[in-house]
Amino acid sequence: MGCSNGRNALYLSQLGFNVTAVDHNAGAIQNLQSIIAQENITNIDPRIYDINQARLDADYGFIVCTVTLMFLAPDRVEAVLADMRECTLPGGYNLIVCAMDTPAYPCPVRFPFTMKEGQLSTLYQGWEMIKSNEDLGTMHNGAQLQFATMLARKPVQPASV
Ligand SMILES: C[S@@+](CC[C@H](N)C(=O)[O-])C[C@H]1O[C@@H](n2cnc3c(N)ncnc32)[C@H](O)[C@@H]1O
Repeated sequence: MGCSNGRNALYLSQLGFNVTAVDHNAGAIQNLQSIIAQENITNIDPRIYDINQARLDADYGFIVCTVTLMFLAPDRVEAVLADMRECTLPGGYNLIVCAMDTPAYPCPVRFPFTMKEGQLSTLYQGWEMIKSNEDLGTMHNGAQLQFATMLARKPVQPASV
């Protein structure tokens, strides 16, 4: 989700996964397409897609959305995350990394969206938390901010009511 030039997509492809890689930036998708052609990669399907639509068209075993949510329309983020959860196969995984804005560490970058404390794990209630933290990170310019990092697994059986 927001694959850019394919940092995650190329890594997952090398591990043998079939990867759908989406970004709204046609230039980024073109760059990824030229890497795919040069390297004769057959298991990445790059597509232009606006994540704000929250309308994935298939179910996936693993959805990766790292440092992308911050660029989305704030009023679409919950719908995007709901769509990701919905489009994850039972027993599948979501991996998310998103910049935070907290009283202790106000976000030094004017991203359209930042996560609040506890917000991400609350949205994934009922999923198994493999990893979840809000640790401090450092940007390339030295600025410090917290990042919500989460790897969660969807239950195999839907929760009973
Ligand atoms: C900082 S890059 C992260 C790239 C990649 N996820 C990674 O971890 O290396 C953010 C990416 O999100 C993409 N992006 C931002 N808003 C988007 C949107 N509404 N729909 C699709 N992609 C979007 C940008 O074009 C950019 O490639």
